Amino acid sequence: PRRARIRSVGRFLPERRLTNRDLEKMVDTSDEWIMTRTGIRERRILDPGLGCSYMAIRAARECLDRAGVEASEVDAIIVGTVTPDMFFPSTACLVQKGIGADRAWGFDLSAGCSGFVFSLTTGVQMIESGRYDKVLVIGADVMSSIIDYTDRNTCVLFGDAAGAVLLEPCEEEGYGVLDFIQRVDGAGEPYLHMKAGGSRKPASHETVEAREHFVYQEGKRVFKFAVTEMADVSVKILERNGLEGKDVKLFIPHQANLRIIEACAQRMGMEMDRVVVNIERYANTTGATIPLCLYEAVVEKNALEKGDYLVMSAFGAGFTWGSVLVRW
Ligand code: ACO
Repeated sequence: PRRARIRSVGRFLPERRLTNRDLEKMVDTSDEWIMTRTGIRERRILDPGLGCSYMAIRAARECLDRAGVEASEVDAIIVGTVTPDMFFPSTACLVQKGIGADRAWGFDLSAGCSGFVFSLTTGVQMIESGRYDKVLVIGADVMSSIIDYTDRNTCVLFGDAAGAVLLEPCEEEGYGVLDFIQRVDGAGEPYLHMKAGGSRKPASHETVEAREHFVYQEGKRVFKFAVTEMADVSVKILERNGLEGKDVKLFIPHQANLRIIEACAQRMGMEMDRVVVNIERYANTTGATIPLCLYEAVVEKNALEKGDYLVMSAFGAGFTWGSVLVRW
């Protein structure tokens, strides 16, 4: 059967930095607390009014430029995001126009912090179907647009960014995206959600006053779930492909908390020197964390050679979680 491969990567990072020191002036927190509990030192914040598509378009353009592919060659665009410019039209439509992908269709995919992984595997299956040859997969989130900067439980954790990959058919047997495992469990709803602004509780003066248009999270519950479930699928995907942690060149986990990443790597039997971590600089950018890490590994460090195994794993609101195995 036909397989897909990642041909190219692009990203966009807003210039503006919000450091732990800045946050110390906004809420009752400290650089020391944030560093030891999360591993985050600073995050990027998009200027107000620009929106998710602003970043997604820029990441997509870089991705296509690196591949030397014209936007008109793109068949489909999938944007994994929980912070679209608006409910409708989808961010994918805005990206289509922004890059000039005049033959493409596309859609947004909502899966919390698993948005990129779910979008990637959806794009992979579109390539595998034989119907499409170039699928642009973007993870992009303006978390600053849904964060309550008076709530120290959440405001220290998130940042803004976008990352993009271009998927193509993989000509060589045994390479490309080999396998994935994905799950959702709606029992996670109470622990991580946005209370208002949807159809159950539309925006009103009351919802604004009650600060219900922001991320609500019970961190401890999410933490426990993440450590067990993300590690489980990451271990399982190795096992069922006859691999061990030592066979994997790079592990790219979703960047939500350094302690979650370390626990997951340990369960996979991987040393931290083969785990991509950039949470210190960008915090949790939801849909963008994994492509940002992939960008650093591939473009900046040239850390993947042909034949190397790569595992990417994520978890997020829903709950949602999943793991993808790639042979580069
Ligand atoms: N500064 C100082 N103190 C703080 C801060 C802060 N920024 N935030 C919380 N605290 C306090 C709490 O109020 C609490 O005080 P109390 O004991 O007096 O009540 C204390 O610190 C300990 O809080 P915990 O929640 O127990 O701290 P924990 O070690 O669990 O760390 C954290 C909290 C970082 C949020 C962690 O639980 C975590 O990372 N959870 C997972 C988050 C995550 O992965 N989300 C993922 C997906 S997001 C998505 O899908 C959109």
